[in-house]
Amino acid sequence: MRVLVTGASGRLGRVVLPRLRDDGFVVRAASRQRRADPEWVTLDLATGRGLAEAVDGVDAVLHLASAPNAGRRTRAVDVVGTRRLAVAAGEAGVGHLVYVSIVGVDRVPLGYYRHKLAAEEVVRSGPVPWSVLRATQFPEFLDELLRTVSRWGPVIGDRALLAQPVDPGEVAGRLVGMLGAGPSYAVEDFGGPQVLRFDEAVRAWRTARRSRRPLLPVRIPGRLGRALRAGALTTTVTPTGTRTWADHLADTYGGTGGK
Ligand SMILES: NC(=O)c1ccc[n+]([C@@H]2O[C@H](COP(=O)([O-])OP(=O)(O)OC[C@H]3O[C@@H](n4cnc5c(N)ncnc54)[C@H](OP(=O)(O)O)[C@@H]3O)[C@@H](O)[C@H]2O)c1
Repeated sequence: MRVLVTGASGRLGRVVLPRLRDDGFVVRAASRQRRADPEWVTLDLATGRGLAEAVDGVDAVLHLASAPNAGRRTRAVDVVGTRRLAVAAGEAGVGHLVYVSIVGVDRVPLGYYRHKLAAEEVVRSGPVPWSVLRATQFPEFLDELLRTVSRWGPVIGDRALLAQPVDPGEVAGRLVGMLGAGPSYAVEDFGGPQVLRFDEAVRAWRTARRSRRPLLPVRIPGRLGRALRAGALTTTVTPTGTRTWADHLADTYGGTGGK
């Protein structure tokens, strides 16, 4: 099976590519980057440049490309770009479009999540048989977030916020399985093995980094805070991944990962 992977240079893309090859898929990798690699094609979803060539002759598309935190460009890439991709894939006779979304896009009032939800709708109502996987946050994302919110010293955050980090390698494994199984016409959740409170995640992170930064609690106000504290970023769906936050911390910082 020939598979086009959009967003192939991203965090998830980098781990999905070798897994697809190992499972016998013929991979075409796409992003805006130019690479001297016959497997690689240049594709800009914000303009449609390279799209017809990217979808030509593939059996399935694994759509990972996204532009979070890009202001107006987020909609241009995530919503309009996904529509462009779905239409081009339909015209090229592609048999399966797999879209990666985020657990909670329908419950958390964030601009980026509204765009992801709109992109899901584009995929569901588009011309290509489809499957959607909503994943929880990758531990690298949580790690980056903690570094950002501790830039000025203390770790600033809502101690009761709930997260369920999932290893991108395990998400990649799930996606490869979905490609093999064919279109499900369903939106599935996939989360990590543990639901963690923000203060628990911070404690393990500080221990792993041998840091003494205190936690400075702030309560995120309004609907957003209520949703995050009520677990809108988490899922009860099983099976889950098996790699924990502590596993990520141990791999990244050594030691026991704060256990
Ligand atoms: N990170 C998380 O914690 C998480 C959790 C759940 C679900 N997800 C979803 O999983 C998917 C992959 O996430 P990720 O963390 O791997 O993302 P990422 O590292 O930010 O990578 C984004 C990818 O999109 C590509 N891209 C950006 N703008 C583009 C454009 N105009 N045209 C074509 N490609 C473009 C980038 O490639 P170039 O810059 O090379 O063009 C890159 O390969 C996303 O849909 C995300 O919403 C992420």
